[in-house]
Formats: sequence, C-alpha cells, structure tokens
Amino acid sequence: SSRSTLIAVDGPAASGKGTIARALAAHYGLPHMDTGVLYRSVALTLVRFGGDFDNEFEAVRAVAQLGQVDPADPELRSEVVGGVASRISAFPMLRAALFDRQRAFAGQDGGAVLDGRDIGTVIAPEASAKLYVTASPEARAQRRLAELEARGISVHYAEVLADIHARDERDSHRDFAPLARAADADLLDTSDLTVDEAIAAALALVEARLKRGLPSGV
Ligand code: CDP
Ligand code: CDP
Repeated sequence: SSRSTLIAVDGPAASGKGTIARALAAHYGLPHMDTGVLYRSVALTLVRFGGDFDNEFEAVRAVAQLGQVDPADPELRSEVVGGVASRISAFPMLRAALFDRQRAFAGQDGGAVLDGRDIGTVIAPEASAKLYVTASPEARAQRRLAELEARGISVHYAEVLADIHARDERDSHRDFAPLARAADADLLDTSDLTVDEAIAAALALVEARLKRGLPSGV
C-alpha cells in the first residue's frame, strides 16, 4: 500500500548495515529482518551435521531445518559459519528456496526493514528507500576484530582482513544476486563515522528519500 515504508539496506560484511537497519527499524517502528541469518542458519545446520558445503541439494534440504536454529545462538555469528554462508549463498537453488520468506516479510502491511546483500536489487526492488552501506576493508576488519575480542576470541588483524577480502570477492563475483549497489540506492560510506554519526547520516538519507517518494499534494 502507499502507506507502507519498505527500507532496503545492503552492503559488505561489517560495513555496519545491521546496526543501521536496526536503528532505522526502531526509529520508524518497523519490523526488521537480518537476511544474513537465513544463510548463516543453513550454514550452521550443514556444519553441525557434517554436510557437504559444495552440494547445492544438501544446502536446499537444510532449509527445512531452519526452525531448529536459535537466532540467538552465538555459533551463528562465528567466522566459520559466516564463511560457509558466503560459499553456499552462491547456489541459485538455495537463494530461490529462501526467497519467499524474505518477500513475505518485505510485503507486510506498514512495511519493514531488511538488510543483506541483494535486498535492493532482488528481494525488494520496489523499496521506498535503499541504502548501500560500505566502508574500507581495513575499517571493517578493525570492527570485526573488536567484535571478536569483545567475545573473548583472539585473532590477528591480518587474518580478519584476509577473511573480509575473501568474502567481498565471493559475494561480489557470484553469478546470482551478487553484492552490488542498486542503481537507485543511496551510498553511505561509514569508514570515518562513529556508530551514532552513521545512524544519523542513514536517517537523513532515508528521510530525504521518503519525502521525495510522496505523491505531490501529500
Ligand atoms: O554480518 P556479515 O555481513 O558478515 O554477514 P551476513 O550479512 O550475516 O551474511 C553472511 C553471508 O550470507 C554473506 O557473506 C553473504 O554471502 C550471504 N548473504 C547473501 O548472500 N544474501 C543476503 N541477502 C544476506 C547474506
Ligand atoms: O551487519 P554488518 O555485518 O554490516 O555490520 P554490523 O553487524 O552492524 O556490525 C558492525 C560493527 O561495527 C558493530 O560492532 C558496530 O558497533 C561497529 N561500527 C559500525 O557499525 N558503524 C560505525 N560507523 C562504526 C563501527
């Protein structure tokens, strides 16, 4: 409906898209879906049951077990699961199997905020506002490192940076729904911004979009 506010937030790993999407959802009172959790949940299921990460059919079969994954499970956030998620997310049949629940969430009355890689391009191309959130690989590696350290996991910066580069490479170069800025998405580079500054900048961009999107006379 014309009253619904659908916001798409895309970007690479650790760009801050999740933080921004949550803040936008709270601001507008909209439900939020972190679509990375879907891919991570399938990845975690394969990791737990010793599945073959190169087998598209096993990945699709694991979608049936999505309900058994606790979204608060800390293992979902692990780098191993993130890496497997990035590998299996190249499978077109898996992307298709996860399409309907994302579409249903995006189509709710009143609207929603979704964040991921292909929200503005594939899942919700009709979104009323789209953000492409990015940051330098170094800034993103620094953030990931801080998150891991906060969880008591010690890793080297160089390792985290290599991981970020590998994930960018895979996410941007796959054949189906690669990470890409939609032509009509606003670009937000958060490299030199604090969390509060990034949220304020995101809100300003979305506000401007929503105003422009209103039919004349409203
Ligand atoms: O938090 P982070 O950005 O590291 O990862 P995520 O958003 O949880 O996504 C994990 C992986 O799932 C990504 O590397 C993508 O390959 C994949 N993904 C995707 O292909 N499409 C989405 N809409 C969301 C995630
Ligand atoms: O969803 P995505 O993987 O893109 O990132 P996230 O889960 O929002 O995590 C980004 C991390 O970087 C969080 O620990 C934030 O506190 C931090 N951060 C940020 O999001 N934005 C900044 N401008 C600076 C730091």
